[in-house]
Amino acid sequence: MFTRVCKLETIPEGGMCLVIASQRHVILAWPDDGALRAFQGVCPHSGTPLSEAAFDGTVLICPSHFWTWDMNTGAAIEPRESALAEYPVKVEDGIVYVDAEAAQELFAPQ
Ligand code: FES
Repeated sequence: MFTRVCKLETIPEGGMCLVIASQRHVILAWPDDGALRAFQGVCPHSGTPLSEAAFDGTVLICPSHFWTWDMNTGAAIEPRESALAEYPVKVEDGIVYVDAEAAQELFAPQ
């Protein structure tokens, strides 16, 4: 089920923000030259929110242990087994909606 999360104008191209949808942390990222995407907002390493993560317009970096992901796909860069789950996202009349129930959060093997 899609949930209204924010206005599109709050996310510039090359930027990101953390929102809550269906009681889950969700990262909205708009990569440079890409499209707005929504991913799980907790780190696959520890399950902590990625609210302090850095984003350079392509790569998201967890500040705790510097794991990295490509925000065009959610694929892990380092380490390889730590992909982020992606959620459907849509924009209607300048409002962003996310379906955070459409996928399970992913966690790296311990
Ligand atoms: S908690 Fe994110 S990389 Fe360790």
